Parts: sequence; C-alpha cells; structure tokens
Amino acid sequence: MKKTVLLTGAAGFIGSNFLKYMFEKYPEYKFLVLDCLTYAGNPDNIPDYIKQSSRFEFWYGSVTNPDIVNSLMERASLVVHFAAESHVARSIFDNSKFFETDVLGTQVMMNSLLKNSQIERFIHISTSEVYGTADTRPMTEEHPLNPRSPYAGAKAGADRLVYSYWCTYDVPVTIIRPFNNYGPAQHLEKMIARFVTSAVSQKALTIHGLGEAMRDWIYVEDHCEALDRALHIEDFSKIKNEVINIGTGVSTSNIDIAEMILSKFNLSNDMLKFIGDRPGQVDCHNSSTEKSYNLLGWKAKTTLDKGLDKTIEWYGNNKAWWEKIEWMKQVPIYTKNNTVEMH
Ligand SMILES: NC(=O)c1ccc[n+]([C@@H]2O[C@H](COP(=O)([O-])OP(=O)(O)OC[C@H]3O[C@@H](n4cnc5c(N)ncnc54)[C@H](O)[C@@H]3O)[C@@H](O)[C@H]2O)c1
Repeated sequence: MKKTVLLTGAAGFIGSNFLKYMFEKYPEYKFLVLDCLTYAGNPDNIPDYIKQSSRFEFWYGSVTNPDIVNSLMERASLVVHFAAESHVARSIFDNSKFFETDVLGTQVMMNSLLKNSQIERFIHISTSEVYGTADTRPMTEEHPLNPRSPYAGAKAGADRLVYSYWCTYDVPVTIIRPFNNYGPAQHLEKMIARFVTSAVSQKALTIHGLGEAMRDWIYVEDHCEALDRALHIEDFSKIKNEVINIGTGVSTSNIDIAEMILSKFNLSNDMLKFIGDRPGQVDCHNSSTEKSYNLLGWKAKTTLDKGLDKTIEWYGNNKAWWEKIEWMKQVPIYTKNNTVEMH
C-alpha cells in the first residue's frame, strides 16, 4: 500500500536512522523530510541512494514555520515528529532555541494536524528526560513529570501540549518517550559517541561527577523497530492517545559504560578524566517495558555489549564523518557559581 510519511528532523541522529530503516522496509512509501539543518542536522546522514530516489524529498525549513509545515502535512498520511534541540548541556548554556523549536515547533505541528484530517497517525517523539530522576523503579508512564534541565522542561512542555490537543480535539496522536539512544551517526556531544571517538583517538574520556548517574540505554535500531510497530499497528485505537516508554529495563552507570568502552579498546582506566557533575543531573533512569510490550508486542533486542560493538564499528569506519565535528564534543555550561565549565 502506498503511503506518504512526513518526518521532521530526519537529518539528525534518530530521524536519519529511522528514515533508512523505513525506506528499505517499505519500498512503496514516499518520504518527505523537513529539517532546518542546525549544527546537529547533517545531510550526510541521508545516503545518496535515498537522496536520489523519487520516493524522497528533502525540504529545508523549520517546524516553526506554519506555511511549510502545512504544505507538507497536507500531502502526508503518517507523521513522525523528531525535530528538536536535543542536548541537555547546550540547554544549560543557552536555552532560547529549545523553547522555540521544541515547544512552539510542536504547537505548529499540532495546529497543522488539526487542519489535516487525512493524517491517520501522528507519532510525537518525547523523551524520558521529562520524568527527571526515578522516584520508583522501573519508571512507568505514570511516573510524575519532574524535568530537571531546560531541555527536559521544553520537551515536557511539548509532551503536555500534545496531550492537551488530544483531550481537546481528539487528534490521532501517540506520545513515545524514548530512553537514552546510542548508535551510528550520533553527534559527538552525546556521551557514548563522545566516549567511543575519544577512545579511537586515545584521548581522555571525561566523566561528569563520579560517573554514578545511571541511564537506560537503547540501541537506535531497536527504537526504530518500536516506532515502525507504532506506525503500523493494525488497530490504532489501542495506542491512540497513549504515552509509551521505549527502553530496555536495564540501567547502567556512566562509569561502567566508560570502562566497558575502554576495555573494548584494550585501554586502561587511567584514560578517565573526572569533571564537575552536570547541574540538574538525572541520577537514575530505568524504563518499565510492560506497556510497550503489551501494546506493541515490542522488546529491545540488542544487548548493551552488542550495541556498543556495532557503534564502535560504525565510528571506526566513518572517521571522515566525525573528525570534522570533534571540536564540538565539549559544550560550555554555566555552573551554580557562575563559572563556565566545558562539559
Ligand atoms: N538521542 C536520544 O538519546 C534521545 C532520547 C529520547 C528522546 N530523544 C528525542 O528524539 C528526537 C530526535 O533526537 P536526536 O538525538 O536524533 O536529535 P538530533 O539533535 O541528532 O537531531 C535533531 C534534528 O532536528 C533538526 N531540527 C532542529 N531544529 C529544527 C527546526 N526548528 N525545524 C526543523 N528541524 C529542526 C536538526 O537539524 C536535526 O537534524 C528529539 O525530539 C529528541 O528530543 C532523543
């Protein structure tokens, strides 16, 4: 069956992985990508065989522009809204773009959805960051929303904005809350990509605080599979107006990840460099996997060990992709004492 899928932010990490996954799996589908190519968007993330295909159109523009959003939304039947400013540390330094893109951009997407009743399914990509630190483990979708950074605050605003639209207008939306993703083509500002590329270049791996913060790490391809299931579930009423966590149920500390990566490179733990903790740090994330399994029949397949091997292989084979952005690995942040620290 032919469908046209609108993907926002698909020149970024998760969106481009999802585009590749879907493009190969659904040869009948056409893909419209809207991306304004911020520092995190990279046209090289979209392979030439996709760029050259008549099943693909790239539209350079912002999700905050209602005209361009409407012109694309009216041609689509499925939408996945990835576009966002996505890096916690950058939001500590300067958060203006975060509220503009993540909140107001989502408002524009929702208003356009209201005008386009042919849209069958709209997936909003939220984040586990909206929960803040785990009060209870595992964290279900009922966990309170206590965002702890401006990024998380902006995403929580977008998440609840989407919720308000389904309460008020009964729009066909599902909110997905992914936990921490890693894998090919992730920007070096993100922890695993930063650790892996530092290990490749035999440079120090910088750890926030004592590295005790724990995250639930999901390999990006597993996440893509979950999104595919949500877009194609036979009976959409099962997931319409639902929030679904996408995580593994396993938490690992940052220091354990760093040590796993060092050992895969046969490097010693002397390569660890400890810096101040991140203000607004989330101490622990641990996803409940029950709802995603019950509703989507989905469970993460890739173990952290296997996912790290695949990630290391990708960064090893794609040095040209990342060497030119190595200088962006660290981000300045203002600490509580009003000093600037590189994180
Ligand atoms: N990476 C993770 O671990 C993670 C975890 C949970 C949720 N998420 C969410 O998943 C989504 C994708 O994350 P990612 O890691 O791929 O992000 P990313 O930063 O790698 O990519 C974001 C993409 O959005 C584009 N973009 C930014 N502002 C835009 C605008 N105004 N208009 C159009 N395009 C714009 C950028 O150019 C880029 O291509 C985001 O909504 C993020 O909040 C990410």
